[in-house]
Amino acid sequence: MTAPMLPADPPRFRLFDEPSPLHPWPRLSDALGGRAEIWAKREDLLPLAFGGNKLRNLEFLVGAAIAEGADSLVTSGRRWSNHCRLTAAAGARAGLAVHLVLSGPPAPRPGPGIRTAELMGATIHQLPTDDRSARDDAVERVVADLLATDRRPYRIGVGGSGVLGAYGQVLGATEMFDQAVERGLHVDAIVLPSATGGTQAGLIVGAALRSPQSTVSGVLVARPADELGPVILDLAGTLAARMGVALPPEAVRLDASQLGGGYGRPTAAGGEAAGLLARTEGVLVDPIYTAKACAGLVGAVRAGRHDGQTVVFWHAGGTPGLFETLEP
Ligand SMILES: Cc1ncc(COP(=O)(O)O)c(C=O)c1O
Repeated sequence: MTAPMLPADPPRFRLFDEPSPLHPWPRLSDALGGRAEIWAKREDLLPLAFGGNKLRNLEFLVGAAIAEGADSLVTSGRRWSNHCRLTAAAGARAGLAVHLVLSGPPAPRPGPGIRTAELMGATIHQLPTDDRSARDDAVERVVADLLATDRRPYRIGVGGSGVLGAYGQVLGATEMFDQAVERGLHVDAIVLPSATGGTQAGLIVGAALRSPQSTVSGVLVARPADELGPVILDLAGTLAARMGVALPPEAVRLDASQLGGGYGRPTAAGGEAAGLLARTEGVLVDPIYTAKACAGLVGAVRAGRHDGQTVVFWHAGGTPGLFETLEP
């Protein structure tokens, strides 16, 4: 099927050519009692810099940057941010300089996020605290310094999660539903990790376009439901209106059971789900995003919430997070 487009037809800088695979996970399904048929959308296997879902956002953000004549990308996140690592990769591919403002506190030694971003040529601006307004101020300073030296920076918000970035996720969802049709599958539910909400908003709109009965459940890994829910609804609503599609009732489903001590703090349930997945399917998930989402899926299947259903686990990537030093 042809890809649905925003009316304005946004410029796109291609970062990958092939769909990410849609794989069955039969041994995980069996280990959970065969109550649900579990599949995985392997966004972690997208081809650049250990893969990850954020490459989809970056195709349109880098496309916009190039269309505006930018020569550098500026974005921000925590030191383990997959969005930041992949911005470094996308900038390298596009020949754009990349500046990453990373909030702290810094790890005792640079972890894989920083090391790989530097390897790809990014300049790191590491802050001592995780204060959000300090991070925003630092981004302003980096942009101002670049402008003062006649550079042309393009600023990308945290997680690349505005309308343009989330549009990339709409295409991820439609790609998966097309793969499901080819395999004769009816997808009842998608389960994904949700942090800034852009991925979930895009998948909601993609599902509304291709399979309005399918549910999209975000397992919260960073912000509580009362904060993130309205953000996702607003973003999905904007995208849906621009694409001329109606959202189903209860479009935004959130699972708050896996937040634990908060963003970047591993949980016992995440560790258990990661071990179960690794032992049954030989697939790895990271403690910050995908292990918590996997724990949400495992908990929901065990509780009977997906009985008889075909469920797609959105493996959003993040695998280098396995090697970060995290606070317990
Ligand atoms: C591996 C992984 N999963 C999930 C997410 C959450 O996506 P979003 O910020 O769009 O909610 C991220 C965000 O960076 C991520 O890197």
